[in-house]
Amino acid sequence: MHDGFDRTARIAGLGAFLPERVLTNHDLERLVDTSDDWITSRTGISERRVVADDEALADIVERAGRAAMDDAGVEPKAVDLFILATATVEQPIPASSAIVQPKLGLENAVCFDLSAACSGFTYSLNVARQFIATGEASTVLVVGAECLSRYVDWTDRSTCVLFGDGAGGVVLQPAPKGEGILQIQWRTDGSYADLIAMPGGGCRFPPHSLDSIEQRLPFIKMRGNETFKVAVRSLTELSLEVLGNAGIGVEEIDLFIPHQANQRIIQAVGQRLGLRDDQVFSNVHRVGNTSAASIPLAMADAREQGRLHRGDLVLTSSFGGGLTWASALFRF
Ligand code: ACO
Repeated sequence: MHDGFDRTARIAGLGAFLPERVLTNHDLERLVDTSDDWITSRTGISERRVVADDEALADIVERAGRAAMDDAGVEPKAVDLFILATATVEQPIPASSAIVQPKLGLENAVCFDLSAACSGFTYSLNVARQFIATGEASTVLVVGAECLSRYVDWTDRSTCVLFGDGAGGVVLQPAPKGEGILQIQWRTDGSYADLIAMPGGGCRFPPHSLDSIEQRLPFIKMRGNETFKVAVRSLTELSLEVLGNAGIGVEEIDLFIPHQANQRIIQAVGQRLGLRDDQVFSNVHRVGNTSAASIPLAMADAREQGRLHRGDLVLTSSFGGGLTWASALFRF
């Protein structure tokens, strides 16, 4: 695929945005039959962010997109492609990326949304680097963002404690092969589509249909325990494949940034890969599972904490509804 070209993409800028409103485990104790102790011990999550009543997806995408362009020192007019990874669209038509385009001044960019749940950001990186490698695009903005709080069933304790809202993005520009993005592998297995799903709200069960309303279908549903096992296996296997393809040993990785779904998954994958604790980054305790925003948010946090530096060798691995999973290896 990409390997026939002599150039790849590098991350020229990184930015993130979290809504101000904090929802703690103690706040959730007042909503559903749960406890801070259960949530912390099963997931590692202490709090998450949720959008304000007058905020929605486009607002947080705008903030993260602008931060990424500022960080790259790139004018909006220079962006020729904008990919927005999200499972929680602003509205079904038009694409959320098109709604954000004028807010960000991306007047020369072709814009589309990419739907791959929690793997959406890494899928988008892979799409973007192909366009850059072929010379079809030279400055690409990729944002992963979710307003999961609007799609969560706040009466379902098995899911509502897990998710949070946020946005993160990168600006990608050309780099010689061997720099920037070194490897990306991506996978889909739709035979597990029902493990993580929002069955209503589409054309099968439109949001206004009786079935949708009575059976609470336009909400995220997850078979958590089964998902957990597949997640650990898939994240580990694909990460090893990426490292093997690139001829890189685990000891050479400066930072592993896995999808932030659950601290137990992060730990299990880190151990199976043979990584030291200091090579593994986690911020799930403060943001929860932000799906497509998870990896760029974690990258931005890691940089702020002094754990991610220019030139570092970074491995990321994401997993989510679809099922979809993807791993990327890059020099930051
Ligand atoms: N508070 C208290 N008890 C709870 C809660 C809660 N919030 N939620 C579930 N329970 C109960 C269950 O009812 C069950 O009770 P029972 O034994 O009496 O039936 C018990 O706790 C254990 O439930 P499990 O589901 O087996 O708990 P588990 O240890 O598996 O943890 C969790 C659940 C946190 C969801 C875990 O399975 C997980 O993280 N799964 C993976 C999630 C993931 O990776 N998602 C990927 C991407 S998401 C996306 O794509 C949008």
